[in-house]
Amino acid sequence: MKKILGSAVALALSALLMTGCGGESKQVVRLSHSQIETHPDHIGAVAFKDTVEKKLGDKFEVQIFPNATLGANEKVLELIKQGSVQYLVVSTANVESFDKLFSIFSIPYLFTSEEAFEKFITDPEILGKLSVNSEKTGFAPVAAFTAGTRNFYSKTPIKSVADLQGKKFRVQAGPVNVAMMQAFGAAATPMSFGEVYSALQQSVIDGAENNELALTDQKHGEITKYFSYDMHQMCPDVLVASNAFLKKLSPEERAVFDEAAKAAQEAEFAAWKGSIAEAKEKAIAMGVQFIEVDVNEFRNKVLPLHEQLLKDTPEIKALYDEASAANAEANK
Ligand code: GCU
Repeated sequence: MKKILGSAVALALSALLMTGCGGESKQVVRLSHSQIETHPDHIGAVAFKDTVEKKLGDKFEVQIFPNATLGANEKVLELIKQGSVQYLVVSTANVESFDKLFSIFSIPYLFTSEEAFEKFITDPEILGKLSVNSEKTGFAPVAAFTAGTRNFYSKTPIKSVADLQGKKFRVQAGPVNVAMMQAFGAAATPMSFGEVYSALQQSVIDGAENNELALTDQKHGEITKYFSYDMHQMCPDVLVASNAFLKKLSPEERAVFDEAAKAAQEAEFAAWKGSIAEAKEKAIAMGVQFIEVDVNEFRNKVLPLHEQLLKDTPEIKALYDEASAANAEANK
């Protein structure tokens, strides 16, 4: 806690400093994320930096902080609110506690295809709808990145729902994830991304759930050797911007930062599929087995949750209907 407060203070102070060069001064723009430097999120961040600095390099310098070096996402969201960090790439699950609208993405089997998911998250109108509470939260989503599908991986093979019974799985934060694991008959252990490796190693949990990159980038495949394609969630990573920062930009500068967000999104998507193929190959070399399961069995088990979640959080209904429309469109 001390460490986090210390870094918050240091950031707040250094936000006041400018990088001087030949009498001119530049404003430092900090972009934080929790992935390694080969991850598509980082590639998106680099495209963001390049676009900003190409057009406004005389005024702004974008500094990228990968690997959660500024702190876990939940903590950095606080720094974003304060304005000492300007941009953060964060899973929607971590935004849920600030704005319930983002819990829409934690609903298991919300999307029936990756195509529908991608169409939904890249629709600027959807981003607009997810921004309605930004005055209150202190930040706004400005781009959405794909993070593929989330699947269970564990020390023992998960071939059917029966194999999940009584097991403990790390999930991302948020009550929807806990409800989902209960519906599957398993126990949820929410914790931050960076804590998962040692929790697996120390057998605090039996497994976790994520896309394939967690096996290789985070080395979870060293410990968990079975990855099952049950595809229970598709949660994007969102690039969120500090409102305090956005408000200080001139309309011309704002246009460049928006263009940079779009460039980041395009670069991230372009990198995604290749990264997954590469991660699978690497994971197989690590001894991980990829298991195809009967997705419908998993889906049917937790589908009753949809009605319950809509009842508990009626504000997500409009987005839920849009997601259903994206599913129908993709199935045409
Ligand atoms: C994915 C996602 C991250 C998220 C992580 C997690 O890697 O891209 O944003 O933090 O899952 O499970 O915590």
